[in-house]
Amino acid sequence: MKSFSVCLSALGFCLGLVGHAQQLDVDVQLDYCHRQVQRSLVQLRDAAGKIDYTVTPRCVEAGEEHWTLRSVKTPEEWCAGFFPGILWMDGDSAEARRYTQELEYLAYRPVYDHDLGFIMIGSYLKGWEVTHDAHYKEVLLAAADSLATLFNPRVGTLLSWPRNVQMFGGHNTIMDNMMNLELLFFSGKKENYDIAVSHADTTMRYHFRPDYTSNHVAVYDPQTGRHLYNCTHQGFGDNTLWSRGQAWAIYGYTMVYRYTRERRFLDFAQKVTEAYLSRLPEDGIPWWDMGDPMIPHSFRDASAGAVVASALVELSQYVDAATSHRYLNEAEAMLLTLSSPAYQSREKNPAFLLHSVGNMPAGTEVDASIIYADYYYLEALLRLKELQHKTTKR
Ligand code: GLY
Repeated sequence: MKSFSVCLSALGFCLGLVGHAQQLDVDVQLDYCHRQVQRSLVQLRDAAGKIDYTVTPRCVEAGEEHWTLRSVKTPEEWCAGFFPGILWMDGDSAEARRYTQELEYLAYRPVYDHDLGFIMIGSYLKGWEVTHDAHYKEVLLAAADSLATLFNPRVGTLLSWPRNVQMFGGHNTIMDNMMNLELLFFSGKKENYDIAVSHADTTMRYHFRPDYTSNHVAVYDPQTGRHLYNCTHQGFGDNTLWSRGQAWAIYGYTMVYRYTRERRFLDFAQKVTEAYLSRLPEDGIPWWDMGDPMIPHSFRDASAGAVVASALVELSQYVDAATSHRYLNEAEAMLLTLSSPAYQSREKNPAFLLHSVGNMPAGTEVDASIIYADYYYLEALLRLKELQHKTTKR
């Protein structure tokens, strides 16, 4: 497994951690996350002290105090891996294990959509990184083979939403799907590796505008493989930059470089990063869509901010020293903002962060605390801590 941790290059982090070391106390923020996890677990217990592991915390709506829970059996529920992932990262293996095992069946039924990757990476892959449990690996390999069945070799990408083929008029691939390639790479199978590389290359070719901003959805003819058109599903418009989509691209291409070491993916990760950074407001947390005409009175998306912060800590390890320094400073500045009273939930609710946008066009989870914002925030803090640890050991 090519985990992020074994890929750290020495030069970049020694230089890069200087900037905000005094300002962002990672341990203080990790303690905060731990306390919020404990509060969540208390909230999730019933009167008899029991937790129903078949429902997963998904979001806390704006102004509410309680987690909205979703059944992990709902086919469209794509967030079931994030809470177990948080528990694995926070060190509660016992509860993490219970939540994780509820998801095993997903690896052995016909794949519903590309989100199988998000679900299994958050739960089983994070669990495998902690435990190296052979059973976890077995489940991950089955899930990877199942995910691979969405691949259309004529198109060269995975079909993201089989249920939406008619709606879009073809084979649809969404930017989010870049994240799920990790499951294919992790499996270590040549066929899955080739599928993941093909998906990343085809997406690179058709899914972006000339200025390296991403479209949300690319639609292809499933018979000929021809690219038909691009559009949005969760962004403001077909020609605007939906921030979480760009965040998935930044994280996704950085991860693809980790597994392939192919220079074109690193170059592309940097290009999509620069396109994102150049559009950020001063505090480093993006508007939910950079093209929303309501800016500066629109909503921010803390989840995109957290995804990018985590990705930038990793990307900083693959680039030259000056760029590494800049990316790390950007990541620290983002985490500093996310760790401020303006963005942390604190006593308001048991999540870590406020102010994420799930699906604005559908009007759902607007300005909410959302579980994946917390997941990537915690991952970013842990990645930064790992760098700091390695720096001080030198
Ligand atoms: N994968 C769906 C989203 O980013 O909202």
